[in-house]
Amino acid sequence: MKKLIIINGPNLNLLGKREPNIYGSLSFTEFLEEIKGKYNTIEIAYFQSNVEGELIDKLHEVGFDYDGIVLNAAAYTHTSVGIGDAIKAIDTPVVEVHISNTFGREEFRHQSYISPNAKGVILGFGLQSYELAIQSFL
Ligand code: DQA
Repeated sequence: MKKLIIINGPNLNLLGKREPNIYGSLSFTEFLEEIKGKYNTIEIAYFQSNVEGELIDKLHEVGFDYDGIVLNAAAYTHTSVGIGDAIKAIDTPVVEVHISNTFGREEFRHQSYISPNAKGVILGFGLQSYELAIQSFL
């Protein structure tokens, strides 16, 4: 069975409550249940942290074993050399996702330390960005 993991960065634990005009009103737990039901022939693990080092630790932990990583590093996308380096260091391919179209937003969101090391980037499709990333691994 194919093993994928979705890794979410800071503030994404508040999805559904947080700026719903940008990020929608569905919680990630609800969305994940839907996705797990729909793609029930693969294993989809989930990890969320607001702490940069914990995201790096998780990438190291899964990055030699899993078949794919769907990563929304959230605000750390735009700041974290450490997460960018972690993606370079591991074997498992990473697809970078964003709920919003970061290029249509503030200038500081146009920079990504993830993109140069990612297999691909999917952004701007709401929570569907995650589903498109999962499909890219199938
Ligand atoms: C985000 C975009 C980031 O700029 C922002 O900091 C987030 C969420 C997105 O999914 O649209 O927290 O990664």
